[in-house]
Formats: sequence, structure tokens, C-alpha cells
Amino acid sequence: MKKKALYPGSFDPITYGHLDIIKRASEIFDELTIAIVDNPDKHPLFSIQERKELIMTVIKADNVRIDSFQGLLVQYATDNNFQTIIRGLRAVSDFDYEFQMSLTNRRLGENIDTIFFMTDEKYSYLSSSIVKQVCRYGGDISSFVPDDVAIELKEKLK
Ligand code: COA
Repeated sequence: MKKKALYPGSFDPITYGHLDIIKRASEIFDELTIAIVDNPDKHPLFSIQERKELIMTVIKADNVRIDSFQGLLVQYATDNNFQTIIRGLRAVSDFDYEFQMSLTNRRLGENIDTIFFMTDEKYSYLSSSIVKQVCRYGGDISSFVPDDVAIELKEKLK
């Protein structure tokens, strides 16, 4: 049976930090699905479709799929037969939130487990918001996101 996993997040936009997790998880699982969350609370800069296209542009692995969902993660996971959720941990400060989410998800969906990857230390300080902020004020984002993402980000923030 194929080992498949789900990597949910906002990806607004995808950064090298996410790509590091995607690469490592896709080497362990037969199939990895990146699920972009349509979370209106976060007032995203890029639409779901734009985020999907950006991710498609920068992902090279054959076993990575891209999808999106609204509502509860557990519902999406159950509907699509996922038992494994992948999350990255950047710093201790991520732990409380991730721990709470992971336990809530397990309570809501009994067979669903979360596997955490320690983010590469190079990206432990990174977030999509930081990248957007640096870009907005004209800073160099080339070490945070791939060129294709940087181009779209600059265009969007013009
Ligand atoms: N490297 C660099 N940055 C990273 C990273 C990594 N490895 N992992 C996460 N980040 C950053 C992201 O860029 C993002 O930055 P931002 O806040 O500036 O946009 C931030 O960390 C948060 O990460 P993200 O993975 O996008 O999480 P999220 O908090 O937006 O969403 C979900 C987490 C999608 C899992 C959660 O909101 C969810 O499940 N939503 C569905 C509703 C639901 O089921 N709720 C109940 C959950 S218990």
C-alpha cells in the first residue's frame, strides 16, 4: 500500500523553508499532498489559484500533488484517506501551537497522526509574512524564496 502524507499550510507564498520540508517528506513518503488552506482570517496576498501555480512552478518531485481545502483539516484528511499530517517545527515557539493542533486533530480524527520535521536551521527564522515585509520595503529576498516566487511577489506588491 502506498504511504501517503498531507502537508497543509497557507503557503502565502511558499518559501525555501517549506521547500526543505517538502523535499525531505517526499523522500520518505510515496506520495505527498500539499494542501493549501483557504483561511480567510489570514487575509492572504495570493489567491488559492495563484499559490497553487507558484508551488507547481517550484516543485520538481513527481510524487508531490497540490490541492486546497476550506474548513477542518481533519475533515479534508478523512475525506481523502490521509492518516499522516506533516508539519515543520521552526523553533520552540512553534511547539505549543503545533502540539495543540496535533492533539485536537487526533481527538477529532482518531486515526490521524502528525509527524514533525525540524526545519533546517537556515530557515528557522523564516515565515511568509517576514518575506512579504522584506519584499514590500525593497529588501533582498533571494535567499528566502525561489526566483519565480520573488518575481511574482515583487509584481504583487508593486
Ligand atoms: N519554514 C519557513 N516558514 C514556515 C515553515 C517552515 N518550515 N513552516 C511554517 N512556516 C511559516 C509559514 O510561512 C507561515 O507564515 P505566516 O504566518 O507568516 O503566513 C507560518 O509559519 C504558519 O505556518 P502554516 O504552515 O502556513 O500554518 P498556518 O498556521 O497558516 O496553518 C493549518 C496551519 C493549516 C494546519 C491550520 O490552520 C489548519 O488546520 N487549518 C484548517 C482549520 C482547522 O482544521 N482548524 C483546527 C486545527 S486544530
